[in-house]
Amino acid sequence: MKSPKQKTAKRILVTGGTGKLGKACVQDLLAHGYDVFVVDVVAPEKGIPHIIADLSDFGQTLDALSSVSFDIHAGVGPQAFDAIVHLAAFPTPRQYPDAHLFQNNLMGTYNVFEAGRRLGIHNIIWASSETTLGEPFDGAEPYAPVDEDYPLRAKSAYALAKVLMEDMARQFVLQTPDMKLIGLRFSNVMEPQDYAKFAAYDDDPEERKWNMWAYIDARDGSQAIRKAIEWEATGMHPFIIANADTVMSKSSTELMKNFLPQVEVRKELGEHETLLSIEKARRVLGYEPEFSWRNKKSWQA
Ligand SMILES: NC(=O)c1ccc[n+]([C@@H]2O[C@H](COP(=O)([O-])OP(=O)(O)OC[C@H]3O[C@@H](n4cnc5c(N)ncnc54)[C@H](O)[C@@H]3O)[C@@H](O)[C@H]2O)c1
Repeated sequence: MKSPKQKTAKRILVTGGTGKLGKACVQDLLAHGYDVFVVDVVAPEKGIPHIIADLSDFGQTLDALSSVSFDIHAGVGPQAFDAIVHLAAFPTPRQYPDAHLFQNNLMGTYNVFEAGRRLGIHNIIWASSETTLGEPFDGAEPYAPVDEDYPLRAKSAYALAKVLMEDMARQFVLQTPDMKLIGLRFSNVMEPQDYAKFAAYDDDPEERKWNMWAYIDARDGSQAIRKAIEWEATGMHPFIIANADTVMSKSSTELMKNFLPQVEVRKELGEHETLLSIEKARRVLGYEPEFSWRNKKSWQA
């Protein structure tokens, strides 16, 4: 008799796995021995097990999250996946008319959280955003570096959906305390080919003041996702995820003094230290960025 497929590696369902951050996340998980299954409206690169589904529709979401693929989890029982990484969304404010973007991003997240709860997949990491912290920054910020104690302020429909996702996640874990919902507040995602344009930012520091000159390399963002999957916890936990440095050659102290002088700087800053604090992610998740645009090796994919 044919024996059922043995569970050999943890199986991770990645929504939005065709996108900028999703591609890097899929590669990182595969490189670390996970099985990966992508759900997206666009097919990922050849060879990645996937299903095309629109997550703004609950029926499609429930089907996709409970799908029985021939590739990775046939015969392993009703709980097909060990964890969900939910990255699918329209990633930019005003990319689409506000209500459409809000509906896609917020409903998609509700559907993933709810389908995950019903299917018993309680380890869920999702992409929140630095925009929850009140971007674009304009000098009214209470202090720097920005941290997880910051009051959330949404200045766009995109940010409002991300803030409400965090509120929604808090409600989910009240109702289902063994759920783990980790909101990673990613900074602006960069791929290696983006680093060529960084030198130009120095000419006009106002251009990147909106997020206090922060960024996240997609590969480091993927490291944070993997460490969040592996972190044993329950409840809802937000983390700011940025690189350890800024996009600028000018020092962080100089940038704050000259371009956000009203904002209280609460610590002695390293020369190019990020102004979006990653202290919590370092301490709790063991996150440590490995790529910096200052190192030419990071420019290679
Ligand atoms: N790019 C950034 O600078 C940035 C910063 C902070 C947070 N984020 C968040 O990170 C996540 C990934 O962003 P990205 O830059 O990789 O975006 P991306 O547009 O490159 O990828 C998003 C993917 O989601 C898919 N998608 C969108 N709506 C969908 C739906 N209803 N059903 C199924 N698939 C759907 C798209 O087809 C795409 O492949 C998003 O949640 C975004 O809001 C991005």
